[in-house]
Amino acid sequence: MQPRRLTLALAAACAFSLPAFAGTVEVLHWWTSGGEAKSAAELKKMIEAKGHTWKDFAVAGGGGDNAMTVLKTRVVSGNPPVAAQVKGPAIQEWAAEGVLANLDNVSKAEKWDSLLPPVVANVMKHKGHYVAVPVNVHRVNWMWANPEVFKKAGVQPPKSWDEFDAVATKIEKAGFIAVAHGGQPWQDNTVFESIALGVGGPAYYNKAFVKLDPAAINSPTTIKAFDTLRMVRKHMDKDMPGRDWNLATSMVINGKAAMQFMGDWAKGEFAAAGKVPGKDYLCLAAPGTANAFTFNIDSFIVFAQKNKDMKATGDFASTVLSTPFQEVFNQNKGSIPVRLGHDMSKFDDCAKKSASDFVASNKSGGLVPSFAHQMAQPSAAQGAIQDVVSSFMNSNMSSKEAVAKLLEAAKKR
Ligand code: GAL
Repeated sequence: MQPRRLTLALAAACAFSLPAFAGTVEVLHWWTSGGEAKSAAELKKMIEAKGHTWKDFAVAGGGGDNAMTVLKTRVVSGNPPVAAQVKGPAIQEWAAEGVLANLDNVSKAEKWDSLLPPVVANVMKHKGHYVAVPVNVHRVNWMWANPEVFKKAGVQPPKSWDEFDAVATKIEKAGFIAVAHGGQPWQDNTVFESIALGVGGPAYYNKAFVKLDPAAINSPTTIKAFDTLRMVRKHMDKDMPGRDWNLATSMVINGKAAMQFMGDWAKGEFAAAGKVPGKDYLCLAAPGTANAFTFNIDSFIVFAQKNKDMKATGDFASTVLSTPFQEVFNQNKGSIPVRLGHDMSKFDDCAKKSASDFVASNKSGGLVPSFAHQMAQPSAAQGAIQDVVSSFMNSNMSSKEAVAKLLEAAKKR
């Protein structure tokens, strides 16, 4: 065969084999802040290293509300992405729609049941089949503190909500903002859930915000939680409405504010700014929650793809749970690996603490799902509860009124 014709034949042969192997992995997510985007880029790199094409579909808006609206539109119009960042009970809701593919092949081949803590595996399965792949474990009940600001104000970070008011007042007297916050419903709820957990403890939290038990919601503890939220609200600056979470984090990074209540994706911002834990910033449990851990597991659901080779989807799921990806992604993202027994030696002290607290709280009963981050409630109730808490923050609604509205919101399905 003529060399030229040989080369053409070879090229054709190669081209022929490539389509069967290489696919396009379009991923819908909301990771657009500095640390988040850096983390997502690691996934892109690894997927492309496997010969696939990464198609990024990032929807800005921390917490993911915008992304979920866009996802619904795409699915309804028959144009779902290959994978989408969806978490908690919503995974079951999507699976019940019959639009998801299952990951039986890769999950069996890679023995996911032995790789994952049951508390994680159960969230990813629908009727016993994996329909989602977990990416990490975020802890939500953190307080990020700037030690320099505390030193200048001559106070120690508060360990309980009872001592919080006095400490925050001294910080303001020293010329700093006490609480850096972004006035968006999901951020308001992130603060409220740490308060509810700190005021009532894990057993109360589970009854009121996981089981949505009316007796637990309609209790003096919930009143105290709203009273405390009202007090903390006083210590936020007037420009906080609508502020993005990562801009609030940068106020702590820059020493303008003393503290922020946020999940450890905030640590991704400190890391991206080259800040050192224990020196430039402190990662502390939110007041009253040192023995508890509110978990938020990022995960990707995968959609059934008509006539599409599932190889790329399988490779995507396998990459997400692979040790190299778990290592580099979580170091950038601020979360901890989801794989059991992952070697934490190259992680910073905050991550090491998170990993040991995750195991300890799982034993002690202090491990609870984050309701502010869609890990605990049916989506309809979660959305309604989020609105009650946020409208309480932005009005002079009484705590008693807020409890009455919460009871109604908790009934939504
Ligand atoms: C959470 C998500 C995190 C982080 C955060 C801020 O809901 O699980 O990964 O991205 O929103 O956007």
